[in-house]
Amino acid sequence: PCPHLLPEGFDFTDPDLLQSRIPQPEFARMRETAPVWWCTQPAGISGFDDEGYWVVTRHADVKYVSTRPELFSSNTNTAVIRFNETISRDQIDVQKLIMLNMDPPEHTRVRQIVQRGFTPRAVRSLEQALRDRARSIVETALAAADDDGSFDFVNNIAVELPLQAIAELIGVPQEDRTRIFDWSNKMASYDDPEYAITEEIGAEAAMELVSYAMNLAAARKECPAKDIVSQLVAAEGEGNLLSDEFGFFVILLAVAGNETTRNAISHGMHAFLTHPEQWELYKRERPETTAEEIVRWATPVVSFQRTATQDLELGGQQIKKGDRVGMFYSSANNDPEVFENPEKFDITRDPNPHLGFGGGGPHFCLGKSLAVMEIDLIFNAIADVLPDLRLVGDPRRLRSAWLNGIKQLQVSTTSG
Ligand code: HEM
Repeated sequence: PCPHLLPEGFDFTDPDLLQSRIPQPEFARMRETAPVWWCTQPAGISGFDDEGYWVVTRHADVKYVSTRPELFSSNTNTAVIRFNETISRDQIDVQKLIMLNMDPPEHTRVRQIVQRGFTPRAVRSLEQALRDRARSIVETALAAADDDGSFDFVNNIAVELPLQAIAELIGVPQEDRTRIFDWSNKMASYDDPEYAITEEIGAEAAMELVSYAMNLAAARKECPAKDIVSQLVAAEGEGNLLSDEFGFFVILLAVAGNETTRNAISHGMHAFLTHPEQWELYKRERPETTAEEIVRWATPVVSFQRTATQDLELGGQQIKKGDRVGMFYSSANNDPEVFENPEKFDITRDPNPHLGFGGGGPHFCLGKSLAVMEIDLIFNAIADVLPDLRLVGDPRRLRSAWLNGIKQLQVSTTSG
């Protein structure tokens, strides 16, 4: 440990810590004096019992790790989902089926296939439908507000659009969406005890979603439609996904594209409500740079990790083969070496080379342009329909080891 930097037992991945705050003062000290540091506390990042993990805090080092898959493998445990015993008894090797946990060349093959669904054209084709959705979500929230004009922004606005976007993307029929949303929510939230959802229920929901997606894939293979599923599974073999690969890809989308975007939207709203001059500026000018600053500011994914494939040196430290290396995007996005006044929420920030979507390299967020579009659409709709929202009380934060989340954000449409 490093007593002059951190108190004994300090754990950057402790969900209780992250529930109350992101440890920015600690990150700042680390960046300055010990930018790559071994934390001995057994970590909670992915439920492994290692003796500790490396904490990488500087922007440049996070980029270095992200872009060198041959030195820092994703294969062992970047896991965002922990599966229970029932499922391992079924001998489903989940790790290998989720692209987030693959290394090249396997990862390259899957990524080349699935990115066909995320080309600028594919994403643009969803824009009109999602614009209409965004508008109706905001209007519905307004209509459902209590007599005093107040409502919870997270559940009434931020939750909806990311779910609809994924459903739209993979062509889930309207009548199935409620079930899909229910499974996604259970999976995404089981580590928060306030949801009263256990790991068991989370894993069960995951398996139901996998089998739903596999059936969808089989149906589209039989009878292709004009959607991404049909494209990805058209014919099994080279250049296409197998049905089970598709099933696990949908699981990844439900996790990677759902709470991330939800929390970006919730944090974005909170930032606007606490920086009224930025909200006025947004309403007037709608700067194109807004969504990127919201993602930097929020950094919904606090960290991901890799495993060193060999002994190596990073930031003056000797890292051993097999060591876990945590890349802390929350720290990198506040690195004053790269960002002028990083503590300032500035929607005109340009350039904005934040690492909220990852530090580059093969796993860089596949859904980035979709996420940016969603954030733009929802804030445009809010600025049109609810231009004078007001914050009521403090937000309630999510208890999670790796997501910077807001569970509840009470707002009001009427003045104090
Ligand atoms: C990967 C963040 C939205 C799909 C990632 C990674 C991060 C991230 C940090 C890992 C990057 C790395 O390891 O280098 C975010 C944030 C989002 C968001 C902050 C919202 C603001 C989305 C959406 C989708 C999506 C909307 C799809 C619907 C994915 C996928 C991967 C990924 C499939 C894995 C890519 C791979 O392993 O090759 N995202 N994401 N994300 N994201 Fe996103």
